Amino acid sequence: MCGIVGVVSSKEINEKLFNGLSNLEYRGYDSVGMCFINNKNFKIKKGVGKLEEVHKKVNFLRLQGNVGIGHCRWSTHGGVTKKNAHPHVDCKNKISVVHNGIIENYSELKDELIRQGHKFYSQTDTEVIAHLIEDNLKDSRIEDAVKLALNKIEGSYALGILFADAPEKLFAARNESPLIIGVGGNENFIASDVPSILSYTNKIIYLEDKEIAVLTKDKVKIFDLNGVNKNKKIHAINWSAEAAQKSGYKHFMLKEIYEQPRAIADTLNERIRNSDVVFEKEFNLKNDFLRKISRIVVVACGTSWHAALVGKFMLEELAKIPTEVEYASEFRYRHPLLDNNTLFIAISQSGETADTIAALKEAKKYGVKTLSICNVMGSSITRISDGVIYTRAGPEIGVASTKAFTTQLAVLYLLTILLAKLRKTLNEKQVKVMIEGIRKIPLQLQSVLDEDYEILKCADLYYHKLNSIYLGRGVNFPIALEGALKLKEVSYIHAEGYPAAEMKHGPIALIDKNMPVVVIAPHDIYTYKKVLGNIEEVKARGGIIIAIATDNDDNIPKKSKHTIFIPKTLYTLSSILAVVPLQLLAYHIADKLGYDVDKPRNLSKTVTVE
Ligand code: G6P
Repeated sequence: MCGIVGVVSSKEINEKLFNGLSNLEYRGYDSVGMCFINNKNFKIKKGVGKLEEVHKKVNFLRLQGNVGIGHCRWSTHGGVTKKNAHPHVDCKNKISVVHNGIIENYSELKDELIRQGHKFYSQTDTEVIAHLIEDNLKDSRIEDAVKLALNKIEGSYALGILFADAPEKLFAARNESPLIIGVGGNENFIASDVPSILSYTNKIIYLEDKEIAVLTKDKVKIFDLNGVNKNKKIHAINWSAEAAQKSGYKHFMLKEIYEQPRAIADTLNERIRNSDVVFEKEFNLKNDFLRKISRIVVVACGTSWHAALVGKFMLEELAKIPTEVEYASEFRYRHPLLDNNTLFIAISQSGETADTIAALKEAKKYGVKTLSICNVMGSSITRISDGVIYTRAGPEIGVASTKAFTTQLAVLYLLTILLAKLRKTLNEKQVKVMIEGIRKIPLQLQSVLDEDYEILKCADLYYHKLNSIYLGRGVNFPIALEGALKLKEVSYIHAEGYPAAEMKHGPIALIDKNMPVVVIAPHDIYTYKKVLGNIEEVKARGGIIIAIATDNDDNIPKKSKHTIFIPKTLYTLSSILAVVPLQLLAYHIADKLGYDVDKPRNLSKTVTVE
């Protein structure tokens, strides 16, 4: 939801600001803008469209200076217009603001400021911040004016602020929207995420809620809204800058799909010792507690919510712990029943999804133990929860989540083994089989990727279809949901995921010779035969069946138009293998349709607003 970046340096910053913003575009791309300070005056360029489109018109690289801020917008308040694009300025054009978040009381503040004579030009909530600081500057120094203004604001914000009269300074502040500070040599940065500035520094300070930072080229000063100075730790991040580049792939999404064998291998690395699962010290939950858990509640959004559904299956089936899965956005407004024996898990790639953070905070009010499963080190949910297990997918840039999802499944699988062992719901032999199963997954994933040409053929044939249905059962029902979500997200084709048998209660009415039906049908002892029956039902109505089947299955190819094979594995692990062809299918269809796969319309990678 909007990306912000800022640099203050002893050198020219235009390329750094431009590159930083270009790395953040996945967060929002309906308009873009930058502001530099020259001779105590602002030079602002902005426009509607993606960075490259606007750049062609205004040439951002002509802006020059040592201090600047930039913004890519995903609109919430006010339409997509040049006027509403950030940065926003005050009446005298002396304060320039970029913002990610929502100012909830902006309308009251705006009315009051208008009464006092301020003139507004946009429909955004952000413009209020510039005028509010201007108002407070009448009687205060700059730092105090920022502090006083932010004390009046309700809502979420990550802010970059420039003052034309303080040309050597860059101000930043955050509340419930992500913002990090990058510490460089003779230059400092602010950004919405770490990868966007990784080419320039890997030394990161995490700004906390209600903290303000003042950056000069060689100093970072941080204080809270009461003016109390803060001593902050500088973290060294071990993601490489190359990991955040496309490395020759046409799109990040494709690169990230292909990275999955490596991502899973990294996620397993050193966590399996003989037949034990060992998480790092930040896991932080004691065995005594893990033995007595009576219930697990998992919250998440989007793709992470689908991972939670697969996790429920694993945790109930193998560790025998009743597990509920909720949308974070629903959970946060309920009065949940949680007690001391409940483990609360939040799953999030970014760790910054507003609803997931709010649900976690809500759970904490009940005093339950909380665990987050997250891909971004130091992100908000990892700092709020009692324990953390990191997925090690590396930076995920494509808006449609792929490698984060499969690494979440790997972590949930490891957690299940750990709990099953502690609670003795599986014997040593069964645990050994489970561990051998996951160890094979990276290589098996590689062989799924080698089937890409078959998937491309399907994309070639069906990219012009307007609808599709995805069917799966058991652990693969969430994979049907995820496959349908991937297609919707990047190709804008209507797709529905359904439990295969439930299809009879409605979706079957939609099936005709124009309807591709993707059926996830790995060989298993649970529902395989039933799914074969479901395939027959689709076939009898003329549907175009694309099946995902286990290697050497010769039943399914006889009944299906296309069969994509995945290697034989344990039932729970079939979900990790089965999702990959669906990711590729969505990718190729969107690419054939000529869409901007990494930046699908209306979406944002990290939804930091409610
Ligand atoms: C957005 C993204 C999805 C993602 C969801 C949850 O909708 O476009 O790809 O699954 O947010 O994000 P999280 O970072 O919490 O996993």
